[in-house]
Amino acid sequence: MSRSVIILFCVIVGVYSVQYPEITPCFEYDSACLTRTSNILYKMSVAGDPSLNIENLDPMFQKRIDGNLATIKYTFHNTTLKGFNECTVVNSKLNLKKSTLKFDLFCPTFKMYGQYDVTGRLIVVPMEGNGDYSILCKDYNIHIDTEIKFIEKNGVRYMAYKTFKVDGDLEGKMVTELTNLFNGQYEELAAFVLRFINTNWKPVSKELQGPVFYANVRRLIKNFNKFLKRIPFDQLIAQ
Ligand SMILES: *[C@@H]1O[C@H](CO)[C@@H](O)[C@H](O)[C@H]1NC(C)=O
Repeated sequence: MSRSVIILFCVIVGVYSVQYPEITPCFEYDSACLTRTSNILYKMSVAGDPSLNIENLDPMFQKRIDGNLATIKYTFHNTTLKGFNECTVVNSKLNLKKSTLKFDLFCPTFKMYGQYDVTGRLIVVPMEGNGDYSILCKDYNIHIDTEIKFIEKNGVRYMAYKTFKVDGDLEGKMVTELTNLFNGQYEELAAFVLRFINTNWKPVSKELQGPVFYANVRRLIKNFNKFLKRIPFDQLIAQ
């Protein structure tokens, strides 16, 4: 009994004392070092920290994602997205003069599901309807370009992401399921459109991914910033 209490105590103390994994300052142009640090920060940002009010992002819940694209409008409702905790940062580049930080994420699996609304034209096929959706993606390369800024607190400088742009290339495959396409009418057309989406997953993902990435990466960047304001910049970058 008392032994297990001691063990439990040690475990708890151990967990709290390594609240931040060891981060060693990197030189600005040392991409390998920056990539290592970015991975540590990335894992922390996805895991979150309930004691600091930083939400866990896998699974990520999105109440509403609006895709208002030129030829097609879609909304995803009540989306659950799984997969961010499997990604790794594969390349990270900092340019202090330009105030930019770029990094690439490789994400082996994303699975998202919820409800959808759609109306418009997807590349060449018409789409209409609302129902349940699920999308499985394999091997996404995601490129995130950020503009950074500095915040000073009690004479200590902290880095923060100010703006970001995101783009992605899907390399593996995408499997999409949609119920109630064309509101249950035109079953043959619905089957054709689904086949089109699943055959042409590469251009389809490129066409539709933007609004989903912006919604998800915004949450990720928010978490990054919550951790970054606790780690002085000179602990990240050697000056
Ligand atoms: C999303 O979930 C909420 C709460 O469970 C529900 O009321 C709403 O109808 C759902 N949205 C859609 C489009 O199904």
